[in-house]
Amino acid sequence: KIKKKQANVLIVGLDNSGKSTVVQHLQSRGKRSEVTVPTIGFNVEKFQNAGLTLTAFDMSGQSKYRPLWERYYNDCHGVIFVIDSSDTMRMAVACNELQLMIQHPEMVKNRSTTLGVPILILANKSDLDSAIPIGQVRAELRLDDIETHPIHLEASNALTGVGLHAGLQWLSEQII
Ligand code: GTP
Repeated sequence: KIKKKQANVLIVGLDNSGKSTVVQHLQSRGKRSEVTVPTIGFNVEKFQNAGLTLTAFDMSGQSKYRPLWERYYNDCHGVIFVIDSSDTMRMAVACNELQLMIQHPEMVKNRSTTLGVPILILANKSDLDSAIPIGQVRAELRLDDIETHPIHLEASNALTGVGLHAGLQWLSEQII
C-alpha cells in the first residue's frame, strides 16, 4: 500500500455544526502551508496531519450554499461530515444531507477501492449536556444501513480537539 501524499478532504455538515472550528483545530496541530482565502460559500485550507497533506474544503452549511458541495465531489478522497450532537431538532435534516451525499454518483466509487469514498462522521459538541449519546447519533443517522462507503463515527469536541486525531487517523488509513 502506498499512501497518497495529497488528499482532498471535504468538510461538510449543517450550519453551526462546528466545521470551521474543526478546521481551525486541525491546522493548528498540523503544519499549515497556506493562508485562508475567504471565499463566498467555502474556505480552503491546506495543512499536514496524520501523514497526509490535506486540502480541506470547509463548505458553508447554509442551505443556499449546499449545491456548491457537489462541485467538489469528483476530486474528493474523503469526507468529514460534522454533526452537532446537541441539535436533535435537525438530526433528520443531517441524515437526509448525508444520504444525498453518499448516493451522489461521484461519491459512489473511490479510485482505489470498489467502495465509495470514506466518510468520517464527527458527533461534535459531545461535551454539551444537551448532546445525545453517540449510539443515538448512529441510530438517528441510520449509519448501520450504509453499506456503500467505509463509515466511521467518532465523538468529538472541536474546541479542545477531543476525537479529532483519532477520527483523522481512521480517515488517513482509508485513503490509500
Ligand atoms: P457555518 O459556517 O454556519 O456552516 O458553521 P460551522 O459548521 O463552521 O460552525 P462553527 O465552527 O462556526 O461553530 C459554530 C459554533 O459552535 C461556534 O460558536 C463554536 O465555537 C461552537 N462549537 C464548535 N464545536 C464545538 C464543540 O465541540 N463543542 C462546543 N461546546 N461548541 C462547539
